[in-house]
Amino acid sequence: MKKLIVGNWKMNGNLTANQDLLVALAGNQNVASGACDAAVCAPVSYLFQLKNVLETTRWTWGAQDVSAHDAGAYTGEVSAGMLKDFNVRYVLVGHSERRQYHGESDSLVAAKAQRALAAGITPIVCVGETLAERERGETMDVVKRQLAAVIHAVGHCATELVVAYEPVWAIGTGQTASPPQAQAVHAVLRAQLVAACGEHGMSSRILYGGSMTAANAAALLAENDIDGGLIGGASLKPTDFSSILFAASAA
Ligand code: PGA
Repeated sequence: MKKLIVGNWKMNGNLTANQDLLVALAGNQNVASGACDAAVCAPVSYLFQLKNVLETTRWTWGAQDVSAHDAGAYTGEVSAGMLKDFNVRYVLVGHSERRQYHGESDSLVAAKAQRALAAGITPIVCVGETLAERERGETMDVVKRQLAAVIHAVGHCATELVVAYEPVWAIGTGQTASPPQAQAVHAVLRAQLVAACGEHGMSSRILYGGSMTAANAAALLAENDIDGGLIGGASLKPTDFSSILFAASAA
């Protein structure tokens, strides 16, 4: 399956710096030739800029969060319909930074995924264990519980999900899951998708995220069930990000 590389800018950027970065991305030959699929998830304030620079390319773009509500008195929230106004293709839901710092529960994440799907936006459902959970041997239980909540809520639409396995201890730490460690979790997530969606689960993409870099991308992407990457820090550095896109195209 063609790999999907998604950049997650988190709360970084400004109009000037974004423009340079986006122009560099727009010129990427691996993406232009269709050798890999690629997207950027930026703060909502910059979605218009992503749309302006990327709409004539093969790049797609996304947001990092979405409201679980449709519309109304929810100050500060952004709805899936509003994201759709900027031709957003993806939205991250349940990123560990949202779960950790904003108290997002499995059921809230599932509601967000449902809103995204209803608006025609593909949710990238982030799952992953903390270091303490890994040390207690709970990794598989945690990721299965997190994904099950979403599958349960979206039913047959589960085939439309992208899943991202992001071990919390690997995010922004420079500590990456080894390829076999990541593959073991991806295989469990794959089995869960197949159980829910039958053979379509085989073609759902499962991304790895957590300190993926130019140096380790090729080995991770060579694993059977690692269908792409969700890249934080390295997505802000054009040279590093383009090396990851190259690795994804060669995988
Ligand atoms: P990182 O972030 O690549 O900086 O570890 C990944 C993510 O949080 O999506």
